[in-house]
Amino acid sequence: MNQRSAPAATYDDTVVRQFTLAAVLWGVVGMLVGVFIAAQLAWPELNFGIPWLSYGRLRPLHTNAVIFAFGGCALFATSYWVVQRTCQVPLFLAKLAGFHFWTWQAVIVAAAISLPLGYTQGKEYAELEWPIDILITISWVAYAVVFFGTIGIRKVRHIYVANWFYASFIIAVAVLHIVNSAAIPAGWMKSYSAYAGVQDAMIQWWYGHNAVGFFLTAGFLGMMYYFIPKQAERPVYSYRLSIVHFWALIFTYMWAGPHHLHYTALPDWTQSIGMVFSLILLAPSWGGMINGVMTLSGAWHKLRDDPVLRFLIVSLSFYGMSTFEGPMMSIKTVNSLSHYTDWTIGHVHSGALGWVGLISMGSLYYLIPRLFGQKKMYSVPAIEIHFWTATIGIVLYIAAMWIAGVMQGLMWRAINADGTLTYTFVESVKATYPFYVIRVVGGLLYLGGMLIMAWNTWMTVAAGRSVRISVPMPQAA
Ligand code: HEM
Ligand code: HEM
Repeated sequence: MNQRSAPAATYDDTVVRQFTLAAVLWGVVGMLVGVFIAAQLAWPELNFGIPWLSYGRLRPLHTNAVIFAFGGCALFATSYWVVQRTCQVPLFLAKLAGFHFWTWQAVIVAAAISLPLGYTQGKEYAELEWPIDILITISWVAYAVVFFGTIGIRKVRHIYVANWFYASFIIAVAVLHIVNSAAIPAGWMKSYSAYAGVQDAMIQWWYGHNAVGFFLTAGFLGMMYYFIPKQAERPVYSYRLSIVHFWALIFTYMWAGPHHLHYTALPDWTQSIGMVFSLILLAPSWGGMINGVMTLSGAWHKLRDDPVLRFLIVSLSFYGMSTFEGPMMSIKTVNSLSHYTDWTIGHVHSGALGWVGLISMGSLYYLIPRLFGQKKMYSVPAIEIHFWTATIGIVLYIAAMWIAGVMQGLMWRAINADGTLTYTFVESVKATYPFYVIRVVGGLLYLGGMLIMAWNTWMTVAAGRSVRISVPMPQAA
């Protein structure tokens, strides 16, 4: 691409600032709810007998808050930053981006009210009732128009690979949301799915798995391809590999959903296809991870004293770990042990806390000082402390869940010589108790780190003044 001919551009960063601050705020809220429900599993009295504080209602509040509020806002902030710099133009219709911000916040508030009140469609990660689903669609269309419009008016011919990942995230989530949320309203906050029986389950887990693939992975890979080269001041290790990575990943993800429905009424051959595609998925996942890590070639020493880079690179090691574990868990015989146990929860959080959480935090630490006219965050040692509390928190959380999960699976399948079960279910619950307490400690550490980040952000914003950045940035690649 020809960089020399690109003229200086003034970027629209108001919406980036808004989504950045919202990501930090919702991160704190979502993780606080996570710690609370983790504590409820250890000490059920914390339900207090109040329906809207009960575990069943707060659990979807946690998942919606961390995925769509924290993760979503981080993805929107970074994508709006990245698309402007790599296309060297300001946002197409900046006012519409503002509309996207406020409608998305309205969705979050509606979720925070309706879920504790018990309104739900009962589909995991798609619990919100139909009026909120419509609001999500409107907000998403605004986002798509601004993002693709900005690509459309770009001043550089080449579309940088980070934008491909963000674009696939936008398109795939739109399709998933529309198809899986199709429902027949039966009142203002009540509806019935348009699908029935096993088809409903199939569509739900096609959605669920691709929510992981495109919401929790593709968009964050967009972050990886921009912020790691920027922070490391090195070009992407292999640009060619990044393109192969992109096409292989998006093609493979779409078919892996049935691994969530092993040993169910779903036709056996569908389950096998899900398993095979999950195993294939290891290759593009690791290809991408290696591409990100190797970007540091010749700059490894930077990891020693740059905590932001450490967030970004360690996130990739968790990405590698969870994308190795996932294919293994998709093997039917392994899944017969792991399914229904806390092993799944351990897998989820090695991806969620380790990959999604750390890459978001690293990218936000890159953005915050630049957005608020500062050279660096208010306190760099505080970033260091955040990194270590978060990392130790993750290790405690996932190690506890792995041990608990394998133990539960083995206890449930243990049988005596006469064919009776060796353990009652409640014995497995009792044996799990210490691990639930360890998870609370891990969660508290992770939340503590997030609170440090919120304080550091507050101080950085207070120290700086909002500036409109009018400097053209060189390409990341
Ligand atoms: C302080 C940090 C966190 C704590 C203590 C925490 C705790 C929990 C707990 C207790 C559950 C319910 C587990 C169960 O039902 O057995 C859960 C579920 C879940 N959490 Fe978290 N969480 C945290 C952060 C996050 C983050 C940052 C994300 C995503 C970015 C996330 C994503 C999820 C998902 C997707 C589930 C549902 C898992 C499933 O259904 O298999 N969590 N979390
Ligand atoms: C190659 C990549 C991956 C594969 C093949 C994979 C595979 C799997 C499998 C087999 C399960 C268990 C299904 C069950 O027994 O119910 C699972 C659950 C899950 N995985 Fe992964 N995984 C991958 C990567 C990831 C990553 C990177 C994340 C997070 C960022 C993630 C998030 C989840 C979540 C949230 C669930 C729980 C879904 C639920 O039951 O609510 N996965 N995955």
